[in-house]
Amino acid sequence: MNILILGSGGREYVFTEKIAESKDCQKLYVAPGNAGTATIAENVNLNPTDFKGIADFSLTKKIDMIVVGPEAPLVAGIRDYFEAESDLKKIQIIGPGKAGAELEGSKEFAKSFMHRHNIPTAAYATFEKPTLSEGISYLQTLNPPYVLKADGLAGGKGVVICDNLQTAEQSLTEMLQDEKFGEASKKVVIEEFLLGIELSVFVLTDGENYKILPAAKDYKRIGEGDTGLNTGGMGAVSPVKFADANFMDKVESKIIQPTIDGLKKDSIDYQGFIFIGLMNVGGEPYVIEYNVRMGDPETQAVLPRLKSDLLSIFRSMNDKNLDQASFEISDNTAATVVLVAGGYPESYEKGKVIKGLKDVANAKVYHAGTSTKENEIVTSGGRVLAITGIGDNLEIALKNAYAGANKVCWDDIYYRKDIGQDLLALDGL
Ligand code: AMP
Ligand code: GLY
Repeated sequence: MNILILGSGGREYVFTEKIAESKDCQKLYVAPGNAGTATIAENVNLNPTDFKGIADFSLTKKIDMIVVGPEAPLVAGIRDYFEAESDLKKIQIIGPGKAGAELEGSKEFAKSFMHRHNIPTAAYATFEKPTLSEGISYLQTLNPPYVLKADGLAGGKGVVICDNLQTAEQSLTEMLQDEKFGEASKKVVIEEFLLGIELSVFVLTDGENYKILPAAKDYKRIGEGDTGLNTGGMGAVSPVKFADANFMDKVESKIIQPTIDGLKKDSIDYQGFIFIGLMNVGGEPYVIEYNVRMGDPETQAVLPRLKSDLLSIFRSMNDKNLDQASFEISDNTAATVVLVAGGYPESYEKGKVIKGLKDVANAKVYHAGTSTKENEIVTSGGRVLAITGIGDNLEIALKNAYAGANKVCWDDIYYRKDIGQDLLALDGL
């Protein structure tokens, strides 16, 4: 098969590596890819939301399958675009159509979906510019902290959590009246604050059957001890100890099954990943958000634990035979540390030469924001590399990941030194 992967981050590097291992993979392309994917597959200079460019390329290169990494092409309807043309519809797309992608594309859609299908989530209300004063009155009925969410895609920045009523009122006004997040904050969802421990659960579905991938914990803040600005993700660990069999049974019966059934009831034929951001509130799972793709950097900790052939799993989805696919998960623990450019998630420099990559022995090196310049690998993004250590337990996995991270350097490299420490502390309780 000829396969095209869309995206350029660490998540897409892992897809590239996994799919390249499959005996059914003949030719593998990544658009646009990074310096790492270029060593495994062929990078193609195409933007993942340039549907016409992707369609022309796919026809010329006889592509059989497109694996969509990020959310933007899904929310913009890449699947619908391909299904609408007779010569393109033969190409299998891994990712939902526009209707299903609304689970990530619109917070209000996601909340009303959960409400309609009795899926546990925080209580909420939605407001627009003309109802700003009602929104302020609603805030006055809640207790702090206050959670405000821009309805649309806002590059991971659209959730604002305010400790007091005054800043919450000000943020709501900025979002609705001053359009702080542009089109994305035309509507704002205000919701109840959930206190608990977060984790990410990943499901793959062909629309009929589903498989649950290993759960992971993501470290979103830039600073150690979960402080400072939110980022795309600074590290990940899988499995997550507190997500034991009893908790995961609740997740499956109260959240995953109703989500799959809800999509069917709403006549949304969903094929692809569903990433469920959950809060464990006193042992009960609540949905914080849906994403319609895999997580980054969670993929770098989750997929190394999948022993089965990822391409065969994807292929089985075409005939809605996902239940027949081999789906073996290793008992190992994986820990991922993300190495970023100094300054990220605010402004940072690019083009720094990365050294020591070949010295990493006992860990996997996943490229993200990297490119090649004059035969050297240089930084080209905020999140530059993800290093994943694997071991029989979390301590060993972390030791391997950090030993790998310590070998790599560039001018102004930064990474958190405390990934997984909270989970190790829980073990000691
Ligand atoms: P998101 O951008 O949707 O991933 O949300 C960013 C972060 O805000 C989440 O990872 C949570 O840590 C936090 N968050 C979102 N909704 C809630 C909520 N209802 N209660 C508590 N924290 C929340
Ligand atoms: N790591 C969170 C995300 O991929 O959205």
